[in-house]
Amino acid sequence: MKIGCLPLLISSAVALRAVIDAEELVVFKNAEFEESFIDSIYGELVESEESMKFKQELVGNREVMSHSSYIEEQGSRDLQAEMESLLRTADYASFSELQRKSSKEDMAARSHQGYRKYKSKIEYPDSDDTSDLSAPSLFGGILTFAHLSHFNCFDPKLYHKNIDIAIVGAPFDTGTSYRPGARFGPEGLRSNSRRLGEGRTPVRGNGKPDSKLIGLDPYVTNFSVIDCGDVPMTPFDNRIALNQLYRGERAIHKHKTTVAGNRAPKIITMGGDHTITLMALKSAYEQYGKLSVLHFDSHIDTWNPKVLGGGITDYMSLNHGTFLHYAAENGYLNKSSCMHLGLRAPYIAPKYDIKHDKQCGFETITARDLDNFGREAIIERIQRRVGDSPVYISVDIDVLDPSVAPATGTMEAGGWTTRELLGILDGLEGINLVGADVVEVSPPFDTNSEITQLAATEVIDSFLGLMMVNDI
Ligand SMILES: *[C@@H]1O[C@H](CO)[C@@H](O)[C@H](O)[C@H]1NC(C)=O
Ligand SMILES: *[C@@H]1O[C@H](CO)[C@@H](O)[C@H](O)[C@H]1NC(C)=O
Repeated sequence: MKIGCLPLLISSAVALRAVIDAEELVVFKNAEFEESFIDSIYGELVESEESMKFKQELVGNREVMSHSSYIEEQGSRDLQAEMESLLRTADYASFSELQRKSSKEDMAARSHQGYRKYKSKIEYPDSDDTSDLSAPSLFGGILTFAHLSHFNCFDPKLYHKNIDIAIVGAPFDTGTSYRPGARFGPEGLRSNSRRLGEGRTPVRGNGKPDSKLIGLDPYVTNFSVIDCGDVPMTPFDNRIALNQLYRGERAIHKHKTTVAGNRAPKIITMGGDHTITLMALKSAYEQYGKLSVLHFDSHIDTWNPKVLGGGITDYMSLNHGTFLHYAAENGYLNKSSCMHLGLRAPYIAPKYDIKHDKQCGFETITARDLDNFGREAIIERIQRRVGDSPVYISVDIDVLDPSVAPATGTMEAGGWTTRELLGILDGLEGINLVGADVVEVSPPFDTNSEITQLAATEVIDSFLGLMMVNDI
């Protein structure tokens, strides 16, 4: 039974090595022990002067024997050759017997005492010292996005606390037409943001040498960036849930900012299905006026409710494919500066949808336009269209190709890669970004590696850069 013998082989190798080490002891009896490279890192763990002296004492007392004296005692048998031969022939029964005999002298254990007794000492802090126990852990601790601070941003008693950028979750997925699960998006994004945070400066930039994004670490600034947690949204009635979200966003907007000239905190909302964007837009509109919405999505989402979902009851009308229709109808959108980016999903009523989409204020860059015109041209077109107006970016993760972001409500083939999306976002350096969201991440449909959630956290990391870069 070879498999069962594996641990035996390993422990036997230790016994064999102990014998040889003991011989080396004699050879190096009076040698100088210079600090090795490993010692310089770990301390004198392997061969400290003290441990060697201790082993020499053991040898002197014949508690541990050198290889040669052991062989002498065993007669002329070549112990090592015998062990090797037994290993070669896989005669584990005899090998075990031999090992038992040789360990009669307890060599391995005794000589290892030297290592144990004299291994380098670690200076532990005082038992009541907890100063290092609040440091963020990569895979433990209570989750906030990128280890940011948290407080209850919805508590009117705390409105005096400054917030420059708030991250907030909108766990809601009852406005989705196909696969649900986006209610778990905020939790999934926080979990996948654990490797973001202080000390991990992003590598990015728009390709120009004067890009201020290069070297901007959004986690080490004097801005107040807070993870406000999730707005509790009831799963039982969309009307109540969306109203809760609106009040949550509005409460965050009531906080002061530390940046002179900034009207209100900038909010990054983690969806949730895309319906949640309507409430984020409503609250942002109340602070900033009409918004230039950059809508990264494979679908138009300006569908007239009569075309998608509605028509029988009003309750059915508001969903994740019609919210932009309502945003336009309610006057939240600057109709001369909104854009769809990465569009590729089929229309439902083509002629009408396209006409209605234009009426809602959108210009379109399709997914394939990235190949047709290139990144630079697209960035220039976006920058020209939004100018200095207040911009809201909404990223439906289904703008990405299903190969890089499969965990979403309504996948569409032929999308952008994560790098292409992040590259376009970097290119928007300088725009007046006042609010943003990432929506439609449905963790139950993600891969084991959680690649969709990871992509979404990088999008938020990009938002943070864009929101700060004009104020540094
Ligand atoms: C934060 O403010 C302090 C005091 O004004 C300044 O010395 C420091 O450089 C600032 N840090 C950053 C990252 O901007
Ligand atoms: C709408 O956007 C255009 C283009 O950026 C801008 O010139 C205009 O002032 C904006 N209108 C409003 C009402 O903000």
